[in-house]
Amino acid sequence: MKHYTIKFVPSGKSVRIHAGATLLEAASHAGIILDTPCGGAGTCGKCEVMIGPERDKALACQHAVNSDMTVEVPKASRFYEKGILTDGIRNAIEIESPVLKIFAENGRAQYDLKSYLDQKIGGRNTLTTELLDQINSYVARTKNGITLVGRKCTEGDEKAHDWYTFEQGDTSNKLFGVAVDLGTTSIVATLFDMLTGETAGVAADANPQETYGADVVSRIEYASKPDGRNQLQKKVVDCFNSLIARLCDNADIEPEQIYEITVAGNTPMHHLLLGLPVEQLGQAPYRAHSTEPQEIRAAELGIKANSAAHLYAIQCISGFVGADTTAVALAVGMDKTSEMTLVIDIGTNGELILGSSDKMFAASCAAGPALEGAKISKGSRAVEGAIEAVVINEDDIDVDVISGTVPRSICGSGLIDALAVMTELGIIDSTGAMKSQDEIDQLPKKIAERITERDGQKCFILAWDDGQGEVYLNQKDIRETQLAKAAIRAGIEMLLKKAGIGIADVEQVLVAGAFGNYIRKESALGIGLLPPVDLHKVHFVGNAASSGAQMALISCSARKTASQTCEKIEYVELAMEMEFQMLFAEALMF
Ligand code: FES
Repeated sequence: MKHYTIKFVPSGKSVRIHAGATLLEAASHAGIILDTPCGGAGTCGKCEVMIGPERDKALACQHAVNSDMTVEVPKASRFYEKGILTDGIRNAIEIESPVLKIFAENGRAQYDLKSYLDQKIGGRNTLTTELLDQINSYVARTKNGITLVGRKCTEGDEKAHDWYTFEQGDTSNKLFGVAVDLGTTSIVATLFDMLTGETAGVAADANPQETYGADVVSRIEYASKPDGRNQLQKKVVDCFNSLIARLCDNADIEPEQIYEITVAGNTPMHHLLLGLPVEQLGQAPYRAHSTEPQEIRAAELGIKANSAAHLYAIQCISGFVGADTTAVALAVGMDKTSEMTLVIDIGTNGELILGSSDKMFAASCAAGPALEGAKISKGSRAVEGAIEAVVINEDDIDVDVISGTVPRSICGSGLIDALAVMTELGIIDSTGAMKSQDEIDQLPKKIAERITERDGQKCFILAWDDGQGEVYLNQKDIRETQLAKAAIRAGIEMLLKKAGIGIADVEQVLVAGAFGNYIRKESALGIGLLPPVDLHKVHFVGNAASSGAQMALISCSARKTASQTCEKIEYVELAMEMEFQMLFAEALMF
């Protein structure tokens, strides 16, 4: 099957996609989420785009790709009023940085810095004598002024600023911070210009704590060994430092220019970073040591940024629903929505939120890392060379690969597609068992040839060896994915029961996660990951945990909103619910 390159403007993003795919699918692969109230039925007209130099209008959901093309996406056609995914968070919230910089000319600094600050910025300004001495000693030797760096403090309603360091000369137009999505499997760090809200770079690594266990339970166990907690903390701090160094290198800045770091992680990851006890998370009733937001000097943890930089760890909800879920709730605007909303954040655990602004339920499903590509023979995160979509064409299957390269692996979205395709073709039965070639009638020859064996296990070849090895799924991969989808689906059913509603009462389903840009809704429904819901209600919102961490980085109000939202969330411990095992068993079926 032919593939074509679609370039989207104004974002400049390009994707290669198979002939016959819609522009809606191509946009989603590029991480551009269009507004699709009619669910792609072609009736609402909201997904309108302009094609080519003539700017011919077309509905993205109806226009099939049949050549290379440039597609303009007008602002009105983009989903997500916050614009987080399409334009970066600068359009999502007002910048209200917790860190402040203010330039004082030499004369000002030398004579009366405090009254200068009172006049210039108002409120209560605190400077230590030690800092004033350092400043005076510096300005006595130079003609240059200084840039004071401080933080906003909240003391009742009084405006207060705590000034703690200074930089030489005028650096007031440069202020950087890092937002970290601290996952069990991977860690994603985003460098931000905190004055403009612009992203200055993104870097990601596998969580190096994996050496001590792929899941949180084994890491909690390891932490109870002598020095275990320290070793786990050191691993993650080293990873933070290498990500920060890489971000700074690429942006041509120094780590000393970073003054603020926010972190959103599940509760065990959050506790292990901060050096808090985690043993209690391994036994009922799985209590967090602290769910409160934490603010400390990053240097106390060994993080290499400015020695005065603070680290703000977003508030957790419970022992197993952490700050990553709080960040997701913040990013998707749960605090404002009046619509009954189901949020599914697919990571190593599947985190769920159900409700609207005044009352929400949350749960964590032990999905395992399959949908992040881990524990899958040829699995990977959504990186270059990963299969992100699988479709059936007339007599074979076809795959879309991130960056249009030779397929090397398969990421979460490809996995869900592949399972849906295999179910539709009868290659796996309703229990998830793979069939052999001779057990299936009337399969096209090219597809039948893909059913074979590798290493003594039945498998289905998704991509033949094209210089980078074969990409296939075997029976074990199917089982891992089956467990993941069943855990999430059973969690959804349990929350619906808790809320006393049915899936038909849910007005929007927001699917978040770093599993790839796009899961075909039909595939997610086809394998039973999602309950039967109108397709037009389902929207993909990308890595919302990372977006929430970014919002908290540049906005004090966002931090407050995050904490207030936590107070409205009731945690549901799935393992303690009598019905959960039955729901899980039902959800295992395809
Ligand atoms: S017309 Fe395309 S989504 Fe409604």
